[in-house]
Amino acid sequence: MSDIAEIKIDGKVYEFPIITGTEGEKSIDISKLRELTGHITLDLGYKNTGSTKSAITFLDGEKGILKYRGYAIEELAQKSTFLEVAYLLIYGDLPTQEQLDYFTNRITRHTLIHEDMKKFLDGYPSKSHPMAQLSSLVCSLSTFYPESLKANSTKEAMDLTMVKLLSKFPTILAFIYKKSLGHALMYPKTKYDYVTNFLHMIFGRRTEDVEIDPVMVSAMNTLLILHADHEQNCSASTVRMVGSSDCNLYASVSAGIDALWGPLHGGANQAVIEMLELIKEDGGDTEKWINKAKDKNDPFRMMGFGHRVYKNFDPRAKIIKKACDDILDKLGINDPVLEIAKKLEEAALNDPYFVERKLYPNVDFYSGIIYRALGFPTDMFTVLFALGRLPGWIAQWKEMHENKEPIGRPRQVYVGHTNREFVDIKNR
Ligand code: SDX
Repeated sequence: MSDIAEIKIDGKVYEFPIITGTEGEKSIDISKLRELTGHITLDLGYKNTGSTKSAITFLDGEKGILKYRGYAIEELAQKSTFLEVAYLLIYGDLPTQEQLDYFTNRITRHTLIHEDMKKFLDGYPSKSHPMAQLSSLVCSLSTFYPESLKANSTKEAMDLTMVKLLSKFPTILAFIYKKSLGHALMYPKTKYDYVTNFLHMIFGRRTEDVEIDPVMVSAMNTLLILHADHEQNCSASTVRMVGSSDCNLYASVSAGIDALWGPLHGGANQAVIEMLELIKEDGGDTEKWINKAKDKNDPFRMMGFGHRVYKNFDPRAKIIKKACDDILDKLGINDPVLEIAKKLEEAALNDPYFVERKLYPNVDFYSGIIYRALGFPTDMFTVLFALGRLPGWIAQWKEMHENKEPIGRPRQVYVGHTNREFVDIKNR
């Protein structure tokens, strides 16, 4: 198979190298396209455009494959812990026990946030969305750690910034949640592991010791692992784009949080539950809502369905659907929206509209049902997605810096006015 692509323009043939990835994917390197031909490409939504070479995560949309650093998501979800997967994504290999202990101890040491950060929480309206608060609080970490502003500083300084962000993120999330309830803040405790500590800060109470159910810890580890990275998705690309200007990690991740908030991206997990609740309130007529999703004149979309890359099935959705049944069973919860979700999935998977467009349940379709079973309110679902995606964002930002990638600056096709003379306002 040739490793050269030819483009013919006005009778002249230009050659461009074909690059093959380690999993066999093919790409045409057009780095010199404009220089050689005076042309650029146009690809709305970057559906056919690779923005980087990355060794972090591999997806095969046709086969429903997801691997972190070469390890299958099914194995990691079953056998690993979220912090171990975070280490894998960021440093490239599964840690030895000694490496994991050192990593864990460093993270445990930095879980507190500056007491002055609580003043920001007092300033937000009581019902303001947690994602808005999370984005601004994460960016404000850079004001307390000015040494982090020099993104490309020493390896040790960058590493400490990554560790601090991983450490403080759950504390910030928990403080946002407790503040939304008007409850006393629960502080992190060094005796707990990462996920138990988070659940302790969320569900713990000052007045008595609350035992954190191991079933909840296990479910949370699985959910966070499944969300940990997903190659060049909208929010990871945003973190890379902002970081490519040599902006600090806190501000880059803050921008990623904003991108994730959108209902077409991570905000879908909240939108799915709101959709299922709507269908339940409307009498549970899944056929009616499937038809609305298919109707081009109806703005309704089947939230949690469809994916830019997965055109067969989202391997994470399969794992989460099974986890859903297990956790609700173990916790003795019967959630009627789960039945509606299964009816919707069943109907859609047999409907030509969805089958022709290769629309299957994605990671967001069932995750909200588990978050709700664990006791989280709907508007906390997307910040939980962000907690899971944090190590992925950090790994992508780190890889971009290590590879010394240039500042991101796409071109455009201009379609506006060509030339106009200025007209004084009196004569307009
Ligand atoms: C995440 O990129 C990632 O990896 C993201 C993510 C991650 O881990 O980071 O996996 C997480 O964001 C998952 C996706 C969560 N979003 C949703 O569930 C929102 C609902 N889904 C969509 O809006 C949509 O499917 C997207 C945004 C996910 C993908 O959109 P694309 O690839 O741009 O596809 P498209 O909008 O061009 O749709 C193709 C066709 C269109 O119909 P036609 O114009 O061809 O007739 O499929 C239709 C769309 O109208 N379609 C849907 C649909 N999704 C696509 N129709 C009804 N319901 C839907 N959900």
